[in-house]
Amino acid sequence: MEQQKKKILCVGLVCLDIINVVDKYPEEDTDSRCLSQRWQRGGNASNSCTVLSLLGAPCSFMGSLSAGPVADFIMADFMSYDVDVSSVFWKDKGQTPCACCVVCPSTGSRTVVLSDMNLPDVTAADFPKVQLNDFKWIHWEGRNAEEQLKMIQQVTMYNSTLPKQQRITVSVEIEKTREPLYQMFPHGDVVFVSKDVAQHFGFQSAEAAVRGFYSRVKDGAVLVCAWAEKGADAMGPDSVVVHSDAFPPETLVDTLGAGDTFNAAVIYTLSNGGSLQDALTFGCRVAGGKCGFHGYDGISKYIKVE
Ligand code: ADP
Ligand code: FRU
Repeated sequence: MEQQKKKILCVGLVCLDIINVVDKYPEEDTDSRCLSQRWQRGGNASNSCTVLSLLGAPCSFMGSLSAGPVADFIMADFMSYDVDVSSVFWKDKGQTPCACCVVCPSTGSRTVVLSDMNLPDVTAADFPKVQLNDFKWIHWEGRNAEEQLKMIQQVTMYNSTLPKQQRITVSVEIEKTREPLYQMFPHGDVVFVSKDVAQHFGFQSAEAAVRGFYSRVKDGAVLVCAWAEKGADAMGPDSVVVHSDAFPPETLVDTLGAGDTFNAAVIYTLSNGGSLQDALTFGCRVAGGKCGFHGYDGISKYIKVE
């Protein structure tokens, strides 16, 4: 298959988000009403698939589900967004994760309590079932890092048999401050590190973070760090730090999944041959726009006419 027509695969979490929109964040031990409530498919990798699909990039999700009404809702939603689900793995142990989310437009906060307890993640043993030849890019949301590294190793092996233009690009997201995830730094061609992780290491800006973490990535890799309303910075092997300011929406509405939207828009641009600066700017434009409406559907207006 022609490389440009191949799909993007995102590996990671899918869950149910029960989203409560409130005018004011509730006090503990009170009983209040929300402005609205909805069910939405969530999870970083799953959200990034939604955004890729809305931008017009064929994509596929890999992750696990446990059969039941929540999984039925999730599968129907994947299909309605045209996200390929042939790499969903059905596990017979555990429950599909579910998050209670509180979205507060007056402050822009999004608070998440996730039950992600006993559903086994996909493993390196599941990975050979993925048809690597269908993909030009595979993105891993850092979760079960040891297994994910073994999957990446399978891609490295696959790539080693191919000329450069036909290889799969690997990206990884290191979002949570969990020690095992840090071993993923040297395994992405593109590495997304979060503000949270950066601050945990004492970095006070995206620029400081990309400079400070760069020694951890592999030769030639690109390191990207988004910093909420400050936009995002990135650095490649030329050591030049590129920056994009944020694009704040007219009114802040829903920041849940802004980071996943940013990642998807960056991957979208880079996978179509765009520059790092274009990718950051588009990432911030789409993610900022997303903060101005509930959910993701408004993203289709950012489709690029090539
Ligand atoms: P998350 O917390 O969802 O992981 P981040 O805070 O890292 O997301 O933000 C990702 C991107 O989303 C930022 O680079 C920025 O472009 C955009 N963004 C997030 N919050 C805002 C905001 N309040 N105003 C404008 N853009 C925002
Ligand atoms: C947003 C999100 C939500 C989910 C939570 C899991 O980035 O993926 O959809 O509930 O994070 O941590």
